[in-house]
Amino acid sequence: MKLIIGNWKMFPASSVEAKKIFVGIKKEAKGLTRAKVVICPPALYVASLVALAAKTKVAIGGQNCFRDDEGAYTGETSPAALRAVGATHVILGHSERRAMGETDAAVSEKMTAAIRNKMTVILCVGEKARDEQGGYFNEVSSELRGSLAAFPKSESKRLIVAYEPIWAIGSKAKRVATPADFREMSILIRRTLTEYFGKKEAFAIPVLYGGSVDDRNAEGFMKEGGADGLLIGRISLDPEKFGAIIHCANTIRSL
Ligand code: PGA
Repeated sequence: MKLIIGNWKMFPASSVEAKKIFVGIKKEAKGLTRAKVVICPPALYVASLVALAAKTKVAIGGQNCFRDDEGAYTGETSPAALRAVGATHVILGHSERRAMGETDAAVSEKMTAAIRNKMTVILCVGEKARDEQGGYFNEVSSELRGSLAAFPKSESKRLIVAYEPIWAIGSKAKRVATPADFREMSILIRRTLTEYFGKKEAFAIPVLYGGSVDDRNAEGFMKEGGADGLLIGRISLDPEKFGAIIHCANTIRSL
């Protein structure tokens, strides 16, 4: 089963447009047998998209949540409320949030909150840049360890890891990563997950690729790269291209 996750970031700016895009994706996601789709819209649209997603296989997730369920925290999103309106997943530790000051310790607290509220965490990790000495391997494994610090070991089924090298994300990306880049890093991610959860559990955790995925490079990451799925930004707002990726994922037989 391949997991295709759309991260809409802070797009679109109108709920009418959000619904339109979602209806387009919903059509594309009909009849999937080997792929699962999760759409993570801005928090304001979660409830209305959950309603539109009823009786489909498309799940809805948040893009962030707070560490506490309730409290005097102006502007924050409660993980309990996110779950209550129907989100089943939540992206945590996205590099765009880490760039705004979110630390591994903060991500770890949010992960605990998401698990407490029975959501699945999509944890993002990735290095800022690549150096010739391979220091980025350390960067990613320590980010992963730091974010996992308090994650309940019995809840590995509620974890998805997305490897998103920061240099490959967004319209200003230097270049797209290659399937080989992903494969190499996914080995390290699995090793780090094995240290934490044990082998059997670690090998069942989906490890996804994210960063400038489109309808032309998606297959390579899943086939040659061996990715269990993809975390997609810009292209997840284009039902046609996103649809092509979903259909492609649905043809790939996982081992
Ligand atoms: P992108 O974003 O696909 O637009 O590069 C990916 C992400 O930030 O999750």
